[in-house]
Amino acid sequence: MAADNSFDVLIIGSGAAGLSLALRLPGHVQIAVLAKSSLDEGSTLYAQGGISAVTQAPDTFESHIADTLDAGASLNNPETVRFTIERGPEAIRWLVGLGVPFTRDNDTSSNNDDFHLTREGGHSTRRVLHAADATGRAMETTLLGEARKRNNITLLEHYIAIDLITGSKLGQADNRCLGAYVLNRRQQSVVGLSARNVVLATGGASKVYLYTSNPDTSSGDGIAMAWRAGCRVANMEFNQFHPTCLYHPKAKSFLVTEAVRGEGGRLLLPDGTPFMERFDTRGNLAPRDIVARAIDHEMKRLGEEYVLLDISHKPAPFIREHFPNVYARCRELGYDMTLEPIPVVPAAHYTCGGVMTDLDGQTDIAGLYAIGEVACTGMHGANRMASNSLLECLVFARAASEHITATLADTPAPPPLPPWDESRVRDSDEEVVVSHNWDELRRCMWNYVGIVRTDKRLQRAWRRVDLLQQEIQEYYSHFTVSNDLLELRNLAQVAALIIHSAQQRKESRGLHFTLDYPEPDNSKPPTDTILTPEHPLNIDYAR
Ligand code: FUM
Repeated sequence: MAADNSFDVLIIGSGAAGLSLALRLPGHVQIAVLAKSSLDEGSTLYAQGGISAVTQAPDTFESHIADTLDAGASLNNPETVRFTIERGPEAIRWLVGLGVPFTRDNDTSSNNDDFHLTREGGHSTRRVLHAADATGRAMETTLLGEARKRNNITLLEHYIAIDLITGSKLGQADNRCLGAYVLNRRQQSVVGLSARNVVLATGGASKVYLYTSNPDTSSGDGIAMAWRAGCRVANMEFNQFHPTCLYHPKAKSFLVTEAVRGEGGRLLLPDGTPFMERFDTRGNLAPRDIVARAIDHEMKRLGEEYVLLDISHKPAPFIREHFPNVYARCRELGYDMTLEPIPVVPAAHYTCGGVMTDLDGQTDIAGLYAIGEVACTGMHGANRMASNSLLECLVFARAASEHITATLADTPAPPPLPPWDESRVRDSDEEVVVSHNWDELRRCMWNYVGIVRTDKRLQRAWRRVDLLQQEIQEYYSHFTVSNDLLELRNLAQVAALIIHSAQQRKESRGLHFTLDYPEPDNSKPPTDTILTPEHPLNIDYAR
């Protein structure tokens, strides 16, 4: 670490967005990349399906744009969608140049240089590049390997950010972002890292739900920190539930990639009856919101705990070649997907809303950027189309790197930061409060703010989350910080943002479905749900 804990750019998060940004910045820029767990742990590592981009005829930008807008229920920002999709081919060339081993097409009738493209829900054609069924792992490993070679990149493992430091928190007139207080989890000590620019690349908040496909890192840290610092957040009611996580007591968050359906897999009721065609003419490849809702509906209607996903009609060598990891994991758990259907359920998967940014990844606070799942760029609208998120990470990492590079010379060096004040706190004597509140929060969100909502359920959830926030605030004010406490505090903050956003939307659109307003409100153009810092939700958690 730099002797004075000071960097040109502090990147909080070491997934596809954070590492791509670090690698895109010029070699003279001094960068710190912060990972709250091991460096490779995070949602990128577990991404299976792939990255969407227009790379082969007859696919076109217009077609990818139309599919993205359709999946997003027209809430997307068309300018952002075009910006992202048109930069897709360059992002893919960059990844290939770094050595990401995308699967090639072994169809001898086609050009051997072509990549194999798979298909997922909402895409009208094959356009998803992948590395078998472990695309995120291939990307993360390659990016991290490259970052380790760069002398200008300091990789800080097991450090969780507590809060952003801004000019106004230090009593300055200019509310620039100046750095962050971070907890060194191994030493249990807090340090201030100062930076000319801070980038949030912390991922989403799906861990706010009891059942999720995400790893433990998805606790909404960046969204909560940005909100507390005074940024606007948008569209937090759009929480995506992936339709097919394996239903097994020992594998609660194991995703079964949508590419299984892209390659011919079918959803069946437990008695073997296909059902998706009753809900959408696109059947098993309808956008994710429609498929997850259909499964939820059928499970509730029949009182079943799961539905089935069946690809056993395909040749066994094809299944093993395309889905080696899913196949192996299922075998470990006692299922052979080449011979039989496997049980699946929906689980929280992706946060479509987040910290509002422009096309450079800039937030409302000077010197603070947000890229990847933490951000709301306008790309995903009311429902992210499968495999558009890795694309967004790559494109916005590049955009932010260009903006930071162009402005760095004129960006003031941050002042020395005051040390973290622990004079009024002591060690916790009741850790059980944290674990209990964790469980209560996630259960409440799953039961009342899940796939199907009502005004009454949202009200119930709000009452509980409000109380939890007060308890957590009290706990935070009195005891030394720990990783679990920080994540809980962030999740409770994000839960409040989700509930409040959901209460504001008096229609059903994309991922937000409420029985009280079951149709989209087409009497006016669709609008984003924007929460501003002046909003009453903004309980001041600063110490
Ligand atoms: O099903 C999947 O492989 C997930 C893809 C995605 O969320 O983009």
